[in-house]
Amino acid sequence: MSEKRNIPISLPVTGEEEWQAVKEPLMTGWITAGPKVREFEQLFAEKHGVKHAIAVTSATTALHLALVALGVGKGDEVIVPAFTWVSTANIVLYCGARVVFVDIDTATFNLDVLDLETKITSKTKAIIPVHLFGLCADIDAIKAIAPNIPIVEDGACAAGAMYKGKYAGNLGDIGCFSFHPRKSITTGEGGMLTTNDDGIAEKLSMLRNHGASVSEEQRHHGPKPYILPDFNMVGYNYRMTDLQGAVGVVQIKKLDHFISERQNWADFYIKELAGIDWLLTPKVEEGYKHGWQSFVTFVDESKSPGTRNEIMEKLQEAGISTRPGTHAVHMLNYYKDLMKVDENDFPGAKAANNYSMAIPLHNRMSPEDYEYVVNILKSL
Ligand SMILES: Cc1ncc(COP(=O)(O)O)c(C=O)c1O
Repeated sequence: MSEKRNIPISLPVTGEEEWQAVKEPLMTGWITAGPKVREFEQLFAEKHGVKHAIAVTSATTALHLALVALGVGKGDEVIVPAFTWVSTANIVLYCGARVVFVDIDTATFNLDVLDLETKITSKTKAIIPVHLFGLCADIDAIKAIAPNIPIVEDGACAAGAMYKGKYAGNLGDIGCFSFHPRKSITTGEGGMLTTNDDGIAEKLSMLRNHGASVSEEQRHHGPKPYILPDFNMVGYNYRMTDLQGAVGVVQIKKLDHFISERQNWADFYIKELAGIDWLLTPKVEEGYKHGWQSFVTFVDESKSPGTRNEIMEKLQEAGISTRPGTHAVHMLNYYKDLMKVDENDFPGAKAANNYSMAIPLHNRMSPEDYEYVVNILKSL
């Protein structure tokens, strides 16, 4: 066995180019949302084939604004997969609405369309399919079941991912993305909203800036910078800084390269790990282009040499970081108390919570790192 390595679960690719990019806003002094954020928005929109992209501070704040823009409030229900990052559910509570969980399919870790059908009521104001780990949810199947309910895509993990020839963020009514360092491209923290609807786009850009009728940049560079804007709605300060925008401009241009490199190594893992009968690797059906934010396996404890957590422990000792894919939100203390649900009400989400295991796949790994991960897994 080769020498021990230390392989983190994820590491962003940032360096000289990003360093140079942040100098410009620092030197000009325009540091809040301005020309760099606009450029990043434009590039992001072009890349994802959407009319509008609106930058914010995170995917969580993007999701929040999406629901606000759709008018979600008290008495409304919003459908959320039970296996996702907690903020997909939290933002429904921010709006005073009710979270309705839907189970997931462990083959894709995405929303189970058959279960969705049973969760729709006259109060359903939006559905939030999550494109988990970079694999798009089956949007056509969702639309077939709920043709008139707005769809907010949680594409936090899915920049550059595709479904039937269209990019994530261009599949529903509003798309939401994250630029947290564990995502394929990063701005430190950051998020993006996408939409093809002019009215929604205008509302979102006001909502992220306190509800102001014009942006700070427009006002400062306009003919009357001394006149404060009017405010026609209650908004928030969810503005991305131009420092982040400058980094985003550099990162978005690398997205295709990052994904194609990840695709090559995902193929390598799928091929090399096929002989391990206790470890199920992701399957990507025809018509999907995976964004590979994470490579998430499923441990079959009926055959594995130890529980999922024991395997994670052994890998940690070998210097290989792993994580559960994410968590089942209905099993978290707050939601357990709030919703009085039993953990077995969502068997797919519970199984994914207990048996999913992300192994390292990112753009700072060497061929030797991938070989090492495969060899250690084979040796268990
Ligand atoms: C599915 C999903 N939704 C939302 C988020 C929240 O993203 P952010 O950290 O940018 O708020 C994440 C982050 O991990 C996520 O994985």
